[in-house]
Amino acid sequence: MSEPLVDTPPDLDFVVVRYPDPVLRRVAEPVTDFDASLRRVVAAMYARMIASKGVGLAAPQVGISRRILVLNPTGELGPDDLTLINPTILSRTGDEDWYDEGCLSFPSIYAEVKRPERCRVSFLDLDGVAHEREFDGFTSRIIQHEYDHLEGVLLVDRMSPADRQRHKAALQELVDGWKRRAPAPERR
Ligand code: CO
Repeated sequence: MSEPLVDTPPDLDFVVVRYPDPVLRRVAEPVTDFDASLRRVVAAMYARMIASKGVGLAAPQVGISRRILVLNPTGELGPDDLTLINPTILSRTGDEDWYDEGCLSFPSIYAEVKRPERCRVSFLDLDGVAHEREFDGFTSRIIQHEYDHLEGVLLVDRMSPADRQRHKAALQELVDGWKRRAPAPERR
C-alpha cells in the first residue's frame, strides 16, 4: 500500500465539495473496477488532501460517490499513506473519547465528537486485494470520520446541539455559499 501510486503528478485536479452539497448526503457506491482510472482518482485525492492540509479525504468530498478513502495521520505523504477501498468497519471497541474534529467540507468549523478508541476494518487495496486490520488512536479517529462520509453522515450530524447552535452562523454561511455557486435547478 505504500508503493507510489503514479510516477507523474496527478492529472486530475479536484476541489473539495462543501456542505450542503447533496453528493455529501448520498450513500457511496462500491468500487468495482481496480484499474488505472481508480489509481488516477486516488492519486488526485491524496494531492487534494495534502494541498488542503487535511489528514483524510473521502471520494464524495471530491464529488465522486464511491467508497474510497485516503488518509495519512501525519498530514504528509509517505509510508503511512492508507488507501481504503470499499471499507467496512467490522467492530468498534475501547473507551469512547472526545476529540475536536474538523472536516474539509466544513472549513473553519471544529466540534467535539465522541467515538470509540479502536476500530477493526476490512478493505480492499488498489489491486483489489482484501485486508483486515485493527486501528487505534488518531488513525482510528480519521477512519471513523471518513467512513461516515461514505454513509452520507457529516460533522454537523455528530456535533452536540450546543455546538450546532454555536456554529449556526458559520453553517448558514456555507448554505448561502453553496446556493450562490449551485447550478440552476433545471441543469441539475
Ligand atoms: Co470530513
